[in-house]
Parts: sequence; structure tokens; C-alpha cells
Amino acid sequence: MEAKIVKFLKEHNHCFVSGEDISRKLNVSRTAVWKHIQHLKECGYEITAQPHLGYQLSAIPDLLLPDEISDNLDTEIMGKKIIAYASTTSTNDAAALLAENGSREGTVVVAEHQTKGRGRLGREWVSPGNTGLYFSLVLRPDISPAEAGKITLMIAVSVARVLRDSYGVAAAIKWPNDVYLDNEKVCGILTEMNAEQDLINFVIVGIGINVNSGKSGLPAGATSIKIKRGEKIDRIRLLQRLLREIETLYGCIGSKNFAKIIQLWRDYSLTLGCRVSVKWRNAVLEGQAMDVDESGALMVRDDLGFVHHVHSGDVAMVRME
Ligand code: BTN
Repeated sequence: MEAKIVKFLKEHNHCFVSGEDISRKLNVSRTAVWKHIQHLKECGYEITAQPHLGYQLSAIPDLLLPDEISDNLDTEIMGKKIIAYASTTSTNDAAALLAENGSREGTVVVAEHQTKGRGRLGREWVSPGNTGLYFSLVLRPDISPAEAGKITLMIAVSVARVLRDSYGVAAAIKWPNDVYLDNEKVCGILTEMNAEQDLINFVIVGIGINVNSGKSGLPAGATSIKIKRGEKIDRIRLLQRLLREIETLYGCIGSKNFAKIIQLWRDYSLTLGCRVSVKWRNAVLEGQAMDVDESGALMVRDDLGFVHHVHSGDVAMVRME
């Protein structure tokens, strides 16, 4: 009902609407309308109440509320089901639990704050409240487990594209899927898979973006969109744009069109052409990052001329003396 009241107030373009009109239109008592309005105000909606005039919506809260995310979201798969937490351990864990219980593809789990946000290779993902965007997507791709790297690349390309096209910042991708702005990290992506030998049950893609954080709230070497743009970013608009872009590019997974994603990844890459050092467990490989193959692996030519297809690991760009 509260979503319906907000929708009705929005339709009246921030003008006053009488309690009687709301109650008649939505078929609830005026007392119920009043109670819902009080609750909406507690949730952060700015609603002015004036005797004889009624209610006026002047601002929606800067919170990742499911109804606001769904409002005008014109996707068919991504975000058709949205679960939002004020705080959770990790949205990837919450999404995995939902997926195990059969949640549909495209389910989004979003949190204002994570107490155990995690990154690749067992690292922590610092998740300060209300300034970032931390969300996970349930995907059920029709590809083999060996091809899961494609998802990672596709998501990184989607993020970089949205940041470039809608926010005018020069987003670049460090293999496999860190998104950077001017050599500082703005987004990390954690892809986790539940699979059998030849079959993916589901993939959870966790995306963490530093959106409105200031320098003091970020780890060294990180930046935010706000720092680069010099203005506060609407996190809901950003999430909607990402879901739309991911939905479009997801259509290229498992088809011949994946070449399009590889090409975009190349165009946005920070890694290709650089001398890199790749750490995987106790081994280190140094060489020239040449390309990505059709499965998303990084192709590195070592100093003896052998080409390695790297599927996982920590890549650092090596500065030549
Ligand atoms: C990395 O850069 O190593 C990946 C970071 C991924 C962070 C996101 S935030 C939402 C989701 N939940 C998590 O615990 N991690 C991912």
C-alpha cells in the first residue's frame, strides 16, 4: 500500500493531494492513509501535510528501497525480484541462499551496509553504510562451468560502459574485473559459482561500487564516482542503469555475440599491452598481457615466448625500469 501511495503522490508531480482522494483512489480509510504516511516519513520520505490541502511528496530518501529501484525499471529479467537489507553479512551469501531455494534468475540482493563484505582471493570488501552500492545478482546461465569467466568479463564491461556513457568518467578494466578511474579502483566484482561437473546450477555476481564515499571513507588506492564527478550520485538511478546494461549484455553470453563483449573489454582494458605479474597461490608468472581468449582467460606471453591462458589470479602491472 505504501508503494501505491508514493506512486500516487509522484503522479501528482509533487503537488498536494487530499487524504480523501488518496483514500478513494486506493480504496483504504483516511486513517489508514494517515498511518501509512507517518510510516513513510519514518522511512525518510519527505511528505508535507497541510490542513485542507492534503499531502505533498517533496523528496524521496537516499536509500536503496526495493519500490524505488523497481519504479520505472524497464528490464525483463534483472531486478524483477529485489531483496533489500539495511545491513547484512554479505549480499553474495544472501543471494546464494535464495538461489539454493530456487529464486529466479535476475533476483537482486542489495544492502546499505555489509558486515562481512568480501572480495576476490579472500580479501575484505570495505562496505561503509549509505554511500556505496553493494548488490548481488542470481544468474542461471546456460553455459558450461569452464565458460563462467565470460560472466565476469561481461559484468565488468557493463559497469565500465555505464560509468563511461552515463557519468562521463574514463572507466577502465583491470583483468579480470576490477574497474578503475584514473588508476584508482572504483568497483570490484566477485563471481561465485555453484556447479556440477558439466552444469552450472547458479552463479552469484556480487558488485561493489564506491559511489558517494569521500577519500577518508575509502581504502588506499580506491576512489568513488562522486570524487571524480564532483557531485553526489543518485544510487538508485545507477543501479537501474546497471541492471539494464547487464540484461542487454547478458544476452551475448553463450552466443556468437560474445565476441562483442570481448571487443568492448579490449577497448576498456587497462591490462592489455602491459607487462604483468600474475600471482596464483605460490606461483608467479611474469610477461606481456597480450589478449583475452574467448573464455575470458588472460593470455600472457612469458619471456621465453610461451603463451599462458590465465583463468584466475592476482594481476599487477609491472613498471619497466
Ligand atoms: C574484489 O574487488 O575483490 C571484489 C569485491 C566485490 C564486492 C561485492 S559488494 C557486493 C557483494 N557482496 C560481497 O560480499 N562482495 C560483493
